[in-house]
Amino acid sequence: MSQSRGLVLVRPTLALQIEYRKMVEEFIAVGEGYPWNNVDLAREDFAAFVRELAEEAEGINLPPGVPAQQTYCGVLEDGTVVGEIRFRPSLSPPYEPHKGHIGYNIRPSAQGKGYATRQLALLLDEARRLGLPGVLLTIEGNNPASVRVIEKNEGCFSHQVVDERGDVVSCYWIDLDKVDDSGEQ
Ligand SMILES: CC(C)(COP(=O)(O)OP(=O)(O)OC[C@H]1O[C@@H](n2cnc3c(N)ncnc32)[C@H](O)[C@@H]1OP(=O)(O)O)[C@@H](O)C(=O)NCCC(=O)NCCS
Repeated sequence: MSQSRGLVLVRPTLALQIEYRKMVEEFIAVGEGYPWNNVDLAREDFAAFVRELAEEAEGINLPPGVPAQQTYCGVLEDGTVVGEIRFRPSLSPPYEPHKGHIGYNIRPSAQGKGYATRQLALLLDEARRLGLPGVLLTIEGNNPASVRVIEKNEGCFSHQVVDERGDVVSCYWIDLDKVDDSGEQ
């Protein structure tokens, strides 16, 4: 049984403050930064960060055209936050052509252990519960590890688009009728 089996998805709460910040600080320490959520707020005022994420999940206070987004932390049995996965159940233009339903990251020290694959499998269960027929995932530039994570969840390359900055974005589709809930092959 893989290490990733103990992983669960948890909505951010104050209880995750210390471990979430550790995950963020690790990305920053290795020079990757943390471009995926409001990291300044997470570092300064975690309670406000949690409130902002709760509002974002409900589509409150978002700029026009930006869809509601649910953020989940990937948490181990010992409370370690190994990563984060973000889910936008409903996409529409102008967001849709370049951005997908799901984005994720795993902290550097936990990469290569199957956590991203498992996080995605768990999130797909949620998408399936909501009745989505499939999900779109987008990859900017060259990211073979992310491609592998998608493929291990039965995702297939669909097409490429050019985003508003002129960068090529690769789009993958996961048909939810075809994926089991293990995330492993
Ligand atoms: C992409 C990312 C989420 C992968 O997390 P992870 O926990 O290491 O992923 P997993 O362990 O579940 O699986 C990674 C797979 O990619 C493979 N892989 C890793 N680096 C690779 C490379 N350079 N080329 C090909 N495959 C690679 C691994 O071998 C593994 O496949 P395997 O199980 O068949 O051996 C992680 O690297 C990350 O957070 N990167 C920064 C954020 C990011 O790029 N997010 C995705 C945006 S689209």
